[in-house]
Amino acid sequence: MLAVILFLLACQIASAQQKDTVVVNADLGTVKISKYIYGQFAEDLGHGIYGGVWVGPNSDIPNIDGIRKDVVEALKKIDVPDVRWPGGCFADQYHWKDGIGPRKDRPKRVNMWGNVVDDNGFGTAEFLEFCKLIGAEPYLAGNVGSGTVREMKQWVEYLTYPDGTTLSNLRKENGHPAPYHIKFWGVGNESWGCGGEMTPEFYADQYKRYTTYLSNYGGNHLFKIASGPNGSDYHWTQVLMKDVGRRMNGLSLHYYTIAGPSWGDKGPSTNFPEKLYFDALKKAKQMDEIVSRHSSIMDQYDPHKHVALVVDEWGIWTDALPGTNPGFLEQQNSMRDALVASTTLDIFNKHAARVRMANIAQMVNVLQAMILTKGKQMVLTPTYYVFDMYKVHMGATYLPISIHSANYTFDGDSLPAISATASKDSTGKVHITLSNIDPSKKQTVVIDLRGINLHSVHDGQILTAKSFDSVNTFENPDNVKPKPFHDARLRDGRLTVEMPSKSIVALELQ
Ligand code: AHR
Repeated sequence: MLAVILFLLACQIASAQQKDTVVVNADLGTVKISKYIYGQFAEDLGHGIYGGVWVGPNSDIPNIDGIRKDVVEALKKIDVPDVRWPGGCFADQYHWKDGIGPRKDRPKRVNMWGNVVDDNGFGTAEFLEFCKLIGAEPYLAGNVGSGTVREMKQWVEYLTYPDGTTLSNLRKENGHPAPYHIKFWGVGNESWGCGGEMTPEFYADQYKRYTTYLSNYGGNHLFKIASGPNGSDYHWTQVLMKDVGRRMNGLSLHYYTIAGPSWGDKGPSTNFPEKLYFDALKKAKQMDEIVSRHSSIMDQYDPHKHVALVVDEWGIWTDALPGTNPGFLEQQNSMRDALVASTTLDIFNKHAARVRMANIAQMVNVLQAMILTKGKQMVLTPTYYVFDMYKVHMGATYLPISIHSANYTFDGDSLPAISATASKDSTGKVHITLSNIDPSKKQTVVIDLRGINLHSVHDGQILTAKSFDSVNTFENPDNVKPKPFHDARLRDGRLTVEMPSKSIVALELQ
């Protein structure tokens, strides 16, 4: 009788533990993962900037000339490579001269996000100071929708012209005698929608008109990014590649994960059922097809991949938190969202030859944020920790990988349970990050490392949670946080990793 019970128990355990294999070709990597894939998007929207980054120099919240100290410290830890600002849709309503000079003299405008008064306290100088504090490159988005060629041209001159013109003297008067170094420049945002409802043909002409007058001054060299397609709008990419081609350095792509059935019913960010967990991960995985298809169109016109695909808005977008201004796009951030981030970053890493920048939407307090703030309080989200665990891939060589994974099945539909990235850094260390999206089954992952002799596995970390909708709150900020991971064994070049359900593991191998 005991033998029968033990046998049944063993069968149960075996069926609950799936076996997956991952082959990593450690000697075949040729493509570098651009560090800019780990970029951030911070729009002048809700508390994304005001309250989240900018509190003003007179605030009792500890700050550096008005910029929150705690937020700066947290962002420095994840090595943010670049920040895109001021929008988003806001970029095509923003007039940069509103945000320079003494703050008391700056005009107050209506911010389209929530129709609130925006005092322009956080303008060009404040943004560039913030970037300097966190060690990130600024990525400025210029106004095409309601601006002029002259206005955009003058912003570039104000920022980068060395000396002697009225605008460069004005920069000097405003406290910055040396020209700024500005690389990334967006020419409009979502020009198919909030950026002016243009057709791709009309926008292609506008792009050429605007960029004709965007000069490189002194040693500055602009990397110009065109407003790109909305998700799977392949026609937009076709037209831009044909009509603009290498006159752009990057083509932007926006794709958001909407777990619910429609934009009007995106689903909540807390206390959601497994259906909204499954559907979110399914929709996030569609990024692979979307990037692949845009890339193959780009390959037809640009086989040597001069033009980067810049996914400068991505992430999960849920219904706004009850009781908040719906225009502020405030949402919580759960273990599900961490898995949306890790699996999406795996897709970008895989496409690193073409995807050379991505900016998650958005950095603080808005959509899939890294950080939430409330007055003096700050909490780091599960997504923040994914960026922390994945930063080892920034600038490393992508190692080709093949994955044979068990399925995570829900309601008759399934997704591969395992997603991963492997990379080799400049010192020869191999890093592997793995995600198990199955919310209830563990996975035993056997990793076959080819072309390299490994001696040790260490520095393991795991991010997991009690439930897929677990979140960090101001009251319980450490609910979802990485912990040391010890369930990886290396034997004869094979690494066996025991992955709990809904978990993300990062390993370093030498
Ligand atoms: O990220 C929020 C908004 O989403 C951005 O302003 C816009 O570009 C996109 O539609």
